[in-house]
Amino acid sequence: MASQKSLNDLTLNFLRDIYYAERQILKALPKMAKAAENDQLKQAFQQHREETEHQVERLQQVFERLGTRARGQTCEAINGIIEEGEEIVGEFDKGPVLDAALAANAQAVEHYEMARYGALVAWAKVAGQNEIASLLEQTLAEEKKADTLLNELANKDLNKKAAVKQAA
Ligand SMILES: [Fe+2]
Repeated sequence: MASQKSLNDLTLNFLRDIYYAERQILKALPKMAKAAENDQLKQAFQQHREETEHQVERLQQVFERLGTRARGQTCEAINGIIEEGEEIVGEFDKGPVLDAALAANAQAVEHYEMARYGALVAWAKVAGQNEIASLLEQTLAEEKKADTLLNELANKDLNKKAAVKQAA
């Protein structure tokens, strides 16, 4: 049965969700890099994998500051997004069209993370937890940067190559 919970409970709930999500993303990114044909896209996935390792560490620091053990809680949303990506990899051959799909799906991952970190930063701020807010803001900025990079890659290169493939 539902019970009255505090914003702190909600924060912990979201932290466990995103902690689980980050570790799933850590496992998914090397597979995405392997599936990508475009070098820049491959590089973007590899680079974001390294960033994600730091993001996991930052979350561990946040749990520590809150005085609780770092633990994840299954996030069906991220599982679903990653699963959809895997299905596409199974359906499309390696090449420009798959690259466009991989970039689009990675953006869905980033958008999910941005929504979660955005809320967590806002709640840490209203709770006066400034150090926690600043740790999570660093991650939020990285997710936004990763999203922008993917968007640029898609618009400048990947989508056009995918369209050429379509016409051929
Ligand atoms: Fe992340």
